[in-house]
Amino acid sequence: MLKLGVNIDHVATLREARYRGRGFGEPDPVEAALICEAAGAHGITAHLREDRRHIQDRDVWKLREIVKTRLNLEMAIATEIIAIALRLKPDIVCIVPERRLEVTTEGGLDVVANEKAIADTRKKMNDAGIEVSLFITPDEKQIEAAARTGSQFIELHTGAFAEEFQVGRESKDEGREPDAVPSTLGSRPSTELERLISGAKQAHALGLKVNAGHGLNYANLSALHRVPHLVELNIGHSIISRAVGVGLEKAVREMLALMQGYRGTM
Ligand code: PXP
Repeated sequence: MLKLGVNIDHVATLREARYRGRGFGEPDPVEAALICEAAGAHGITAHLREDRRHIQDRDVWKLREIVKTRLNLEMAIATEIIAIALRLKPDIVCIVPERRLEVTTEGGLDVVANEKAIADTRKKMNDAGIEVSLFITPDEKQIEAAARTGSQFIELHTGAFAEEFQVGRESKDEGREPDAVPSTLGSRPSTELERLISGAKQAHALGLKVNAGHGLNYANLSALHRVPHLVELNIGHSIISRAVGVGLEKAVREMLALMQGYRGTM
């Protein structure tokens, strides 16, 4: 069965927009993690960024306490974060590149250029009983290098696939011939989907377990069914966005109920 890891960073982003530096606030990513698990999610993913723009240290410690499924800590290779991970002992770490100016993790990890540092970190994590995944684009050389580091998993970056899907849909909506359409939608092959398929096959043949994530949503998910050997998808933004859509009506009704008793007297 294909597993779902829910990335709860975006819950923390919303909290930090109002409560940055306060040590409390809503919405609470820890509460969100409990809801995701109760709904059947197979894991919880959180990215402790060096700039702490969303998830805070207190969040990851609380998550470690309450997460009953699997805690996946996304992290850059940074001395401070490595030390935290080794003490925290998440079930798995996903090593990602981090650039301060990016809105979210934009590119894949360059394993070819940083093979030694990644292999060293991989070993430290494995020695502490923590599995390791590398977030990479479906590039042959990166996948080969990922296997050489001894990592257990790769997470295939699906951002380009999601982007291609979106462009295809927009062209279709505008009545134009789509530039690129994922193969389940049209007759022309999707380059990015094909890249994911061959990347997954290559990784599997090299003994790597294959996860995927970034930009996956309710529209493009079914196209991804063509990618073989997938173990887990990590999805954040679209699930949290959908939660606003499906939850807003209830939230407004609850607020209106609280306002019911107002009589306007001093
Ligand atoms: N996987 C990794 C490694 C990521 O960095 C992210 C984004 O934080 C995701 C998955 C989830 O991406 P999205 O929020 O677009 O679903």
